[in-house]
Amino acid sequence: MKILPENRLRRLRINPTIRSLVRETSYNLSDLIYPMFVDENISKPREIASMPGVIAYPLNMIADESASVKDLGINAILLFGIPSHKDDHGSGAWSENGIVQKATRSIKEISDMTVIADLCLCEYTTHGHCGVLDNEIVDNDSTIDLYAKTAVSQAEAGADMVAPSGMMDDQVEKMREALDSSGYINTPIMAYSAKYASAFYGPFREAAESTPSFGDRRTHQMDPANLREAFREMEADLREGADILMVKPAMPYLDVIREARMRYDVPIAAYQVSGEYAMLVAAAQNGWLDRKKAVLESLTSIKRAGADMIITYFAKEVAEGLNDL
Ligand code: PBG
Repeated sequence: MKILPENRLRRLRINPTIRSLVRETSYNLSDLIYPMFVDENISKPREIASMPGVIAYPLNMIADESASVKDLGINAILLFGIPSHKDDHGSGAWSENGIVQKATRSIKEISDMTVIADLCLCEYTTHGHCGVLDNEIVDNDSTIDLYAKTAVSQAEAGADMVAPSGMMDDQVEKMREALDSSGYINTPIMAYSAKYASAFYGPFREAAESTPSFGDRRTHQMDPANLREAFREMEADLREGADILMVKPAMPYLDVIREARMRYDVPIAAYQVSGEYAMLVAAAQNGWLDRKKAVLESLTSIKRAGADMIITYFAKEVAEGLNDL
């Protein structure tokens, strides 16, 4: 059988130059956001066992470390704090001298790194849940008041953006009102809108010491089986004033990213989470995958699905190795 001339698709794959001319997707370092952990309980860097290469820093090192990430060409970090004091309502999250507030001030003092403050209570509560408990379930309405206080406190400390990850209803509206009435009308909210109750957060919970002491997060995070519901979440966040919508995790949810891209004109962020990192790193350590190729392919696929920006633990190594990609 004769192949029709227009079906010779291999013509455009014949050499690297032609392949790069027809390449549809690319990303820049300016699209990547690097998650960083600052831990009030340590005096030396602590490597996260289930995330080889990811390190939690003591307060007195976080600014220098963040400045060196900036020098590599990464312009934004997502900052997580691990406090020395926890209580049942997570007061460390909105304290003026909370770990994220102190770290943000020190980072902004020495560099122009953009600090996006993750906003949740699970690192700050003794029980590890994302808010105040009522009969062992997170109480929505009292929790979002605390999120609003936390947002203002993070903005006061110099955070450039806040990123609520608790999946409470109406959290964005409460935070927007609080930020506006405190004068932070220009502080954007990156909403973790479609955040699934995912097994892929396991390594993070070791890093952030935020594993719930009982139960799980399925009364607020989304069921992995649901797609349509993700758009109800996103629409609610848009109505409430979210500036950026996030899908999390990324690779197992590329369909959600894709459809969000088609439906909405606002920027879409995707979070390649700790378990996605751990899987790729573990396979590469065993010699089962080419680390660099697999990492770059994973980021390309998230971009191709429609993400404008990617939160990824690989950001730093991509920046370090960009010259020989
Ligand atoms: C806090 C929060 C979590 C992650 C980001 N913010 C954990 C969770 O919801 O249990 C996960 C990030 C990752 O796995 O990389 N609510």
